[in-house]
Amino acid sequence: MGFDKEKIIRDFPILNREIKPGKRLVYLDSTATSQKPEVVIEAMNDYYRLYNANIHRGVHTLAEEATAMYEQSRVKVQKFINARSHKEIVFTRNATEAINLVAFTWGRQNLDAGDVVVLTEMEHHSNLVPWQMLAAEKNLRLEFIPVTENGELDLLELPALLNLKPKLFCFTHMSNVLGTINPAKELISNAHKAGAVVLVDGAQSVPHFAVDVVDLDADFYVFSAHKMLGPTGIGVLYGKENLLNNMPPFLGGGDMIKKVQLRTFKPNDLPHKFEAGTPAIAEAIGLGAAVDYLAAIGMDHVLAHEKELTAYGLEKIAPLEHLKIFGKDITNKGGVIAFEMDIAHPHDVAQILDMQGVAVRAGHHCAMPLHEKFHIPATTRASFYIYNTKEDIDKLVEGLQIVIDMFG
Ligand code: ALA
Repeated sequence: MGFDKEKIIRDFPILNREIKPGKRLVYLDSTATSQKPEVVIEAMNDYYRLYNANIHRGVHTLAEEATAMYEQSRVKVQKFINARSHKEIVFTRNATEAINLVAFTWGRQNLDAGDVVVLTEMEHHSNLVPWQMLAAEKNLRLEFIPVTENGELDLLELPALLNLKPKLFCFTHMSNVLGTINPAKELISNAHKAGAVVLVDGAQSVPHFAVDVVDLDADFYVFSAHKMLGPTGIGVLYGKENLLNNMPPFLGGGDMIKKVQLRTFKPNDLPHKFEAGTPAIAEAIGLGAAVDYLAAIGMDHVLAHEKELTAYGLEKIAPLEHLKIFGKDITNKGGVIAFEMDIAHPHDVAQILDMQGVAVRAGHHCAMPLHEKFHIPATTRASFYIYNTKEDIDKLVEGLQIVIDMFG
């Protein structure tokens, strides 16, 4: 389908909404969660209307249709990130649960007291807290790649950290606050040379640009459907087959077993070993539809559109008085602009923007340590996706001008 701006906007029913009288929705909060196109909503409705049944358990027509659609979504995801096998795609609740799964299984099995885990200062809480919990349990040593004033990883510090021979290195492919797109391939290759296993948080990357897990050579790669036009309640853990095979199961219950006796069980094959209980079936089908939609547009078009909006946004927002952008000069920046205004709290800014129909996020964006690093409690964040336009950014700037007129 290519990048047909008008059609894309028409595909998202929510964009017709008026937020206040005469104020059409301008949605600039896709980094928190994206909006959903009609095809995703319909794919989920069709499941409930036409073939609702449990999967992997029945022989009747509905059960077979539901199972086929659920498994087709897995293959769609596999192709989308170019994984070698559908067995490497585990459905979880979200990226957070995928990271917790790795911490709970691989981490508990492979990390011991004194082992080093390298993270970065730009992680959001999902890629910090599970490791903090495991570190407390196992007495691990957590080390961090610092973030520069510019908002990029300070890669000059990497060799010293890798000299510590970390067992695990976890980093975000793209920062949800600064928009920094990290050089994932180079980071993974260096970490592998030092002997570390690498987990990449792809919550902000998979929705916005092409990701090839084989080319990157990531060991684990995680993301959430709801940030990539899909529903909430489903996410993905990609893991290399040999790693997943050697990991113990995560949650116990139905579907993750091959055989159960009163006192023992035999785990199922991949990927079912990690999918206990009835999964999010409608959500998996919705994710499949979202993947089809993005693939039809082409991820290179998605990235190019967002780069264009980001450049336009920086050009229009940066000159405003009383406003400081974090990560303005980042070399490789995705569609996120976070800023502080010295005249108004981010919550006030967001509320005034809301009066104009403009939705942004205000707060720490689940990245408190990063805000602490920049000595600020909170920022206002505008983030862009395929359905945004330069006119949306103009509306944001008009709203910010109202803030300046009121408080300045
Ligand atoms: N991590 C999500 C965000 O950036 C929730 O808003």
